[in-house]
Amino acid sequence: MWFQTYCNVRIKDKEFEPYISSSDIQSTIQKIADQINTDYSGKSVIFVGVLNGAFMFAGDLLKNIDFNCEISFIKVASYEGTSSSGKVHELIGLVNDIKDKHVIILEDIVDTGLTLNKIFSMINHDEPASLEVASLLYKPEAFQGKHSPKYVGFEIPKKFIVGYGLDYLEEGRNTKDIYELKDK
Ligand code: XMP
Ligand code: MG
Repeated sequence: MWFQTYCNVRIKDKEFEPYISSSDIQSTIQKIADQINTDYSGKSVIFVGVLNGAFMFAGDLLKNIDFNCEISFIKVASYEGTSSSGKVHELIGLVNDIKDKHVIILEDIVDTGLTLNKIFSMINHDEPASLEVASLLYKPEAFQGKHSPKYVGFEIPKKFIVGYGLDYLEEGRNTKDIYELKDK
């Protein structure tokens, strides 16, 4: 049904086809929020979104979190075009005091896991009470990191996707649905 109504999108030199619909994204996010509401109720929690990709996931997830919490963002970069560069740079660090707080990192996608390795060493340095990850998407076949996400929306194979925060060369973030790179 969805595949009949949603079209391919072109971003720069590449064409992408529909992969995950907005309604599937929203219902999955609701399930993640329900789990977090159960697991963290009564605790001192700070959510840390990873810019730029996680801005939509963070916004939609947090609308469904029912306890008082802090929200902040960090910015790191590792991707160049359609593959990870292997090097992770910190562009904006965390300014909040997180000592003895429960930190939940919000990622759009965990791919090789190298970005999470870097983020864990940045955040653990400031002695949080606990540190876990909620990621909308996870590529288990590509993962070679130390810290796998506790909360995962969709496990996907090794394919390049865009939309709902994810970009190709900085474009394509502003869609409600997620698209996959079309085979030539
Ligand atoms: P690593 O490999 O460090 O990657 O786990 C994490 C970051 O890389 C970006 N990423 C993607 N971006 N489509 C994208 O638009 C993808 O398929 C993709 N896979 C990884 C993303 O920014 C993520 O936070
Ligand atoms: Mg990201």
